[in-house]
Amino acid sequence: MKLLVLGVNGFIGSHLTRRVVAETDWEIYGMDLAADRLGDMVDHPRVHYIEGDISINKEWIEYHVKKCDVCLPLVAIATPASYVRDPLAVFELDFEENLRVVRQCARYGTRVIFPSTSEVYGMCPEPPFNEETSLLVYGPIHKQRWIYACAKQMMDRVIWAMGQHRGLRFTLIRPFNWIGAGLDTLATPKEGSSRVVTQFLGHLLREEPINLVDGGRQRRSFTYVDDGLDCLLAILRNEGGRCDGRIFNIGNPANDVSIRELAELMIDVLKEFPDLAPLAEKAELREVSAEAFYGKDYQDIGARVPDITAAREVLGWEPKIGLREALRRTIAAYVADWRAAREALDPAGGA
Ligand code: UGA
Repeated sequence: MKLLVLGVNGFIGSHLTRRVVAETDWEIYGMDLAADRLGDMVDHPRVHYIEGDISINKEWIEYHVKKCDVCLPLVAIATPASYVRDPLAVFELDFEENLRVVRQCARYGTRVIFPSTSEVYGMCPEPPFNEETSLLVYGPIHKQRWIYACAKQMMDRVIWAMGQHRGLRFTLIRPFNWIGAGLDTLATPKEGSSRVVTQFLGHLLREEPINLVDGGRQRRSFTYVDDGLDCLLAILRNEGGRCDGRIFNIGNPANDVSIRELAELMIDVLKEFPDLAPLAEKAELREVSAEAFYGKDYQDIGARVPDITAAREVLGWEPKIGLREALRRTIAAYVADWRAAREALDPAGGA
């Protein structure tokens, strides 16, 4: 099978590539702006990487949409601070650029697996969120945080309609706060520039206080990336076409915690790393208002738990990694890179 992966160096794209190389005989044709997360994988004979921008290298993409069996358009802006800071960039990339690719998939008969998001459920008051029955609830227009959810929801609706009216073969996936190595870069210390786990870890390693937005009462269900990839690989295999025309939440309802609990657990896990325990002992939690942290156009989601009955029943999939272990593995990967970067800067160990 030939996969076209746009955004192949992203968090999901790079983990997918690693798993495809290790576990299948599939070929990956991948485009991205850089290849740092892919590392040596760019040299693998079944990985055909090209550096490029999906808004510029349109002919390469069209040619490969035609040539490949499945397309995964993974390119998107996916950090909430960006939704309020640059909503038009979110619309243009997450919606307009992806729509062009999806139209090509319909035109050339290429199956598409599109990354929808847990965010499409918005402030739905009744978790767990179900793909077929939950309401999708957003705030007023001036709360620009919802432009990402709206753009993704509109893509979901367009893809669904193309399935009905243009014969597009598709599967929509909804990752729920996947975490793991390579989620965001710790090198961007700016507040809100990363998703919460990497944001908190960066603060801990730099000995800065952790910001609990609105006291950290809001809840998320965190999913370890390997669990998520098990599900995505089953969707790619698509035995008997069982995933065609379906939507799957991919999350771990057992890992539902408040953001305050997440911070406390991360501090506790950091204590397991002997040289970093002193940082954990000194960690400071401070409460900030959402408006002070993100600006007035932000609005939060109070609780977000996936109903994963569909993935369980159709694919026999079950997430296995508990939150503590997911954080342990994620932190270990980041800490290894962080130590290497520090040693490169200061090989003598810091005088
Ligand atoms: C994320 C992003 O929209 C996407 O990456 C993705 O589509 C989706 O959810 C997902 O991964 O399922 P969100 O969970 O709100 O949205 O993103 P985070 O930035 O990780 O924030 C989680 C929570 O932590 C929010 O309530 C936020 O206010 C809080 N937070 C974040 C803090 O309390 N302090 C911080 O320093 C950062």
